Amino acid sequence: MIEARNITRTYTGRGAFTGTRTVHALRGVDFTLPKGGAVSFIGESGCGKTTLGKILTGLDTFDGGSLVIDGTDVSTLPAARRAPYFRRIQMIHQDPYSALNPTRDIGQILGDPLRMRARETGAGRSQQRERAAELLELVGLRPGGVLGKYPHQLSGGQRQRVVIARALTVDPEALVADESVSMIDVSMRLGILALLRDLRERLGISLLFITHDVATARYLGDGGELHVIYRGQVIERGPTDQVVQQPVHPYTQCLLSAVPVLRGLEEPGPERLVPLAALDERVPTPGCLFAPRCPFATPECTAAQPGLTVLTPGEEHRHACLHPQARRVVATEAPAAH
Ligand SMILES: Nc1ncnc2c1ncn2[C@@H]1O[C@H](COP(=O)(O)OP(=O)(O)OP(=O)(O)O)[C@@H](O)[C@H]1O
Ligand SMILES: [Mg+2]
Repeated sequence: MIEARNITRTYTGRGAFTGTRTVHALRGVDFTLPKGGAVSFIGESGCGKTTLGKILTGLDTFDGGSLVIDGTDVSTLPAARRAPYFRRIQMIHQDPYSALNPTRDIGQILGDPLRMRARETGAGRSQQRERAAELLELVGLRPGGVLGKYPHQLSGGQRQRVVIARALTVDPEALVADESVSMIDVSMRLGILALLRDLRERLGISLLFITHDVATARYLGDGGELHVIYRGQVIERGPTDQVVQQPVHPYTQCLLSAVPVLRGLEEPGPERLVPLAALDERVPTPGCLFAPRCPFATPECTAAQPGLTVLTPGEEHRHACLHPQARRVVATEAPAAH
């Protein structure tokens, strides 16, 4: 249902201390999100995850590539005609605390988009109220318990459920969940993840999940593709379980070595990465973006950027590494969570 081809996004800004700075937030990202399917993006802080989510929901623009939503390339449409396409994709932000207007109660928060939707569907007031209650039940909340309440009277988990209910008011075909559980109490996270999975299974809503946590990507991206993104570029991708169980890019191995789910697969080896903070991002890298940190880099790696190639002919698992064989890599320090 969504096909992104070679999406690039570059920000140029002037800082008082840093001078003119160009940030390549996305460098040619490709993916296909099928109807009712799941795609996860995983990578450390600043790799471009939120930028991708914003582009998919029309909150940011892109400067190269194409984005096909339901068969229409939105990049060829004038800005005014893009809105109906982007409305089919709703974003759930990482912070349920700032996503809801504190001065409006939950009934009003859901009522506003439902009223706009009613202009198309012709739903009357009572139908809108019924729909609000139905949506709250769908996300696991008791309508009587929350409709008259304000966001500050709810727990973080309840707020995130309201955010999801609000996203559902426009009957979206896809949800983009950007670190949607990272700001909520650990005890409530699993409930939200289960809810998102359930929406995908029961309503056939496609899910694009953006995270730095492989365990959640694995849980939500079950049966879908996992894309590992490094400094705006996808460096490994494939069926989620395959990438998690048999990572071949040293960066993916490093990310995965930081999570308990993979302990026991292999003990960390002696190879260590150069920490990200030690790199000067302004120095352009002609070759593999990861080469300056990679313990396996050879002169060829710094000469030209490798494209994504299949690991085994006929399979979907791809990587952008010249030396994808047996190796064990651990981070010198854990990749930053944020
Ligand atoms: N509006 C903007 N102007 C300039 N630079 C930006 C802008 N938005 C994002 N960036 C830069 O683009 C890069 C990618 O940012 P993005 O927010 O997409 O990262 P992220 O992967 O979501 O990180 P995190 O895990 O911390 O949320 C970062 O280097 C960021 O500083
Ligand atoms: Mg982000």
